Amino acid sequence: MTLMDDARKVRENAHAPYSNFKVGAAVRTVSGAVFVGCNVENVAYPEGTCAEAGAIAAMVAAGERGIAEVAVIADSPKPVSPCGGCRQKLAEFAAGEALVTLGTTDGTELTTTVGALLPGVFDQAYMSKV
Ligand code: THU
Repeated sequence: MTLMDDARKVRENAHAPYSNFKVGAAVRTVSGAVFVGCNVENVAYPEGTCAEAGAIAAMVAAGERGIAEVAVIADSPKPVSPCGGCRQKLAEFAAGEALVTLGTTDGTELTTTVGALLPGVFDQAYMSKV
């Protein structure tokens, strides 16, 4: 089972009654464990959370910190693009070289990296004067 298979499976559990856009995400950690997440929307729209955020929260809750690889999938015409906020969330726990595979439910995949998704990432170096 690939990481994308894990993302595809958890996508089915997404709670997306407002957008009807289900997303699944899976992260593999440096220890080899896999954590999954799906988007969870809310009638108060801004309270919704992305699939990537769910997978990251599950990873941190389990006591892990290092993301080695990511997969995200949606029923989109081209491989789904993580939102800006999720790119920053991924960058918190992944090296720039970490692979991110973006997919469609039809099977199209695009592989990129956390660094390529977020050039100019805000990191701790900017806070070195405080
Ligand atoms: N969404 C994600 O969960 N991840 C992404 O990478 C893109 C967008 C969700 C948020 C919202 O529930 C729905 O997709 C439509 O924006």
